[in-house]
Amino acid sequence: MSEEIKNKQAEKKKRIFSAIQPSGTITLGNYLGALRNWVKLQDEYDCIFAVADLHAITVRQDPKQFRNNILEAYALLIACGIDTEKSLFFIQSHVHTHAELAWILNCYTQFGELSRMTQFKDKSAKHADNVNAGLFTYPSLMAADILLYKADLVPVGEDQKQHLELSRNIAERFNGVYGNTFTVPDGYIPKVGARVRSLQDPTKKMSKSDENANSWVAVLDKPDTIMKKFKRAVTDSEARVCVGEGKDGINNLIGIMSAVTGKTSDDITAEFEGKGYGDFKTAVGEAVIEELRPIQERFDQLINDKAFLEEQYRKGAEFALKISQRTLDKAMKKIGYLAK
Ligand code: TYM
Repeated sequence: MSEEIKNKQAEKKKRIFSAIQPSGTITLGNYLGALRNWVKLQDEYDCIFAVADLHAITVRQDPKQFRNNILEAYALLIACGIDTEKSLFFIQSHVHTHAELAWILNCYTQFGELSRMTQFKDKSAKHADNVNAGLFTYPSLMAADILLYKADLVPVGEDQKQHLELSRNIAERFNGVYGNTFTVPDGYIPKVGARVRSLQDPTKKMSKSDENANSWVAVLDKPDTIMKKFKRAVTDSEARVCVGEGKDGINNLIGIMSAVTGKTSDDITAEFEGKGYGDFKTAVGEAVIEELRPIQERFDQLINDKAFLEEQYRKGAEFALKISQRTLDKAMKKIGYLAK
């Protein structure tokens, strides 16, 4: 997208920023909680999206696999509908301002605030042998991502709400000391799909880092794998397709069905009245397979077109650097750094 068009757009539309980590498979949770909404927002907002690969090394990554994951995440987002003609879309590590502002924001973020992050507590319990400083300061890097682009809105799933709140606090604190520098962002949480749960333990969110592969569905899972995973989904013994307390498994499947088909939970309950969970799970599996089919087809084409992908992410990084450098320069000047 030309700079002129981008500037014009930015004048009248609110700006959105969001990102996704390329740490392994991208799940149905990511898709319903985030990606699908990003695609819809592109016409209405001035959108900026990134593959957050700097964030991903808070957990050890195999270099070859990591390189593949980054490219695959980039291709998959385009396959889902991120349009590089409408939105700015880049890879975080290609834009050095993110790491630079993250360092600065670390100095405006309190130890106590970072200690309260539930994701830090969860991840450090899970990777007890690698509780690194990056895992701890991860939210300041996320704040840098958002604040560099003066985003008004940040569409995320529910699990990122606490990080977003901290980004707001950091922005307000900095602005309080130096005067208006950063835009204080608002969250933008979808009404359906904000918290897709594990198919094996529906009290937890569906997460790609879950070791039990039956607990998540990957956007690129083959149709028979998707069906198998839904058929194995944990439910309850009531055998009635309806939303209810103590029915986390069925509530989750109804949520997925509703997000994918647009039907309300009442419609779904009426449709499956008198039918067993087996029929319902098959129907959810089929609906998800159909939703993902065109994305998988497009991904297969894109991932073989390395030249196209390279052209897109290079262009994206170049433009992202221009925008973000201005904000970084402004913040550094306010702090008192000497101009270059
Ligand atoms: P990540 O990569 O874990 O997830 C990307 C997006 O997917 C959403 N999500 C879900 N939504 C519903 N149900 C689920 N089970 C589910 N799992 C994941 C997440 O809420 C997120 O919106 N720290 C971020 C990436 C990031 C970022 C940013 C986001 C880096 N910088 C700046 C926004 C703004 C993360 O790890 O998301």
